[in-house]
Amino acid sequence: MAAVVTPGQALASSAQGSAAARRLRVLHLEGNEADRALAASHLLRAGLWPEVLRVDSEAAYVEALKSGDWDVVLSDFDLPGLTGLRAQQILKDSGKDVPFILVSGEIGEDTAVAALRNGASDYLLKSNLARLAPAIEHAIAARRDRLARQHADGELAVSRRRLSELAQHLQNSVERERAAIAREIHDDVGGSLTAIQFDLAWIGRHVESPAVQQRVATALEMLTHALEASQRIMHNLRPAILEQGLVAALQWMASRHEKREGLTCRFRTNRETMQLPPGVPLVAYRFAQEALTNVSKHARATRVTIDLSLSRGVLSLEVSDNGHGLDRADLDKANSFGLRGLHERASTVGGWVDVSSSASGTVLMLSVPVPGAGLAPGELDDDSDPSAWGPP
Ligand SMILES: Nc1ncnc2c1ncn2[C@@H]1O[C@H](COP(=O)(O)OP(=O)(O)OP(=O)(O)O)[C@@H](O)[C@H]1O
Ligand SMILES: [Mg+2]
Repeated sequence: MAAVVTPGQALASSAQGSAAARRLRVLHLEGNEADRALAASHLLRAGLWPEVLRVDSEAAYVEALKSGDWDVVLSDFDLPGLTGLRAQQILKDSGKDVPFILVSGEIGEDTAVAALRNGASDYLLKSNLARLAPAIEHAIAARRDRLARQHADGELAVSRRRLSELAQHLQNSVERERAAIAREIHDDVGGSLTAIQFDLAWIGRHVESPAVQQRVATALEMLTHALEASQRIMHNLRPAILEQGLVAALQWMASRHEKREGLTCRFRTNRETMQLPPGVPLVAYRFAQEALTNVSKHARATRVTIDLSLSRGVLSLEVSDNGHGLDRADLDKANSFGLRGLHERASTVGGWVDVSSSASGTVLMLSVPVPGAGLAPGELDDDSDPSAWGPP
């Protein structure tokens, strides 16, 4: 049986005409009409404007949930053929986020706890209906807060995703731009310098004057510097060494770092070659590059170790130094983007970065799950460009 009772029918209360009264759509699962009226009168007295639909069977309850838009469900605990807990489960299964309050003649502690655990907003005894209006208002406010939080969380997730997409896009653009500049240096600058080198060598061979020969020799020396510089710049822009594989590239990076910076730089790996998915080698290479740059810039270390391993489907690259370490404030520096960029880069290939530090040094670790990698050569796309970013 279902009965709609509006405040006009329920009570000619002073609250009826009050502008302050707030409309409240109540679905009341209750076998006794007098109990429904009592609850409604308490709500009216509290300044609410209840529109109550009373139902007393599972079928009517399910139908009312389906067709109505409710602010709150009040439920007696023991109705013939339907318990409060079952009513609560039906509400849950309906997917509607409506506060559920148990209102019962008597209710055991165990039952009340079970109801609250199952998501009931509150429970109260029919002998204490003065608490009904505050309980409803509290439950509705909690629901409003929950929805607002869900909405804010949703917005935050969208904004994080967009930011991450933007960062990926920027990194892809930077790498593309770097590759294009490297190509231009190679084709235009490198080509012209090599041509000048030939010409100067030719002049040097054909000129008699020792003074001119001396000038040519000096010019050739300068030219050799310029060619080396352009090769170095080209390499930094686009590490061609990666075409020989990540292991070779990191080995080369370690020995170059050792020579340049005058500190001990060790490279260790558990494999001589690695078959890695497209994009991963460049992310790993840039990670090691930034980590070593940081060691030179900040750590005051005398030793740095690069450990590369591939096992159980995870690529790990660890760069550890024996410098003075870093702290939280270092990681939060407003104008420092190296480590932040590494997190973003790692995420482009499904990986992540961990930083740990103590007074005896800093460890930076990149982990990238690479299912299937490291199997027999040829099982992955061998034609893929190892210096490319991951899938677009
Ligand atoms: N190996 C390290 N040893 C000690 N401190 C470090 C180390 N690596 C980073 N730091 C600290 O962490 C900070 C942040 O590093 P991060 O690479 O993000 O930025 P940065 O190197 O200052 O600037 P950039 O944006 O050019 O990389 C550094 O400024 C430094 O204080
Ligand atoms: Mg840095």
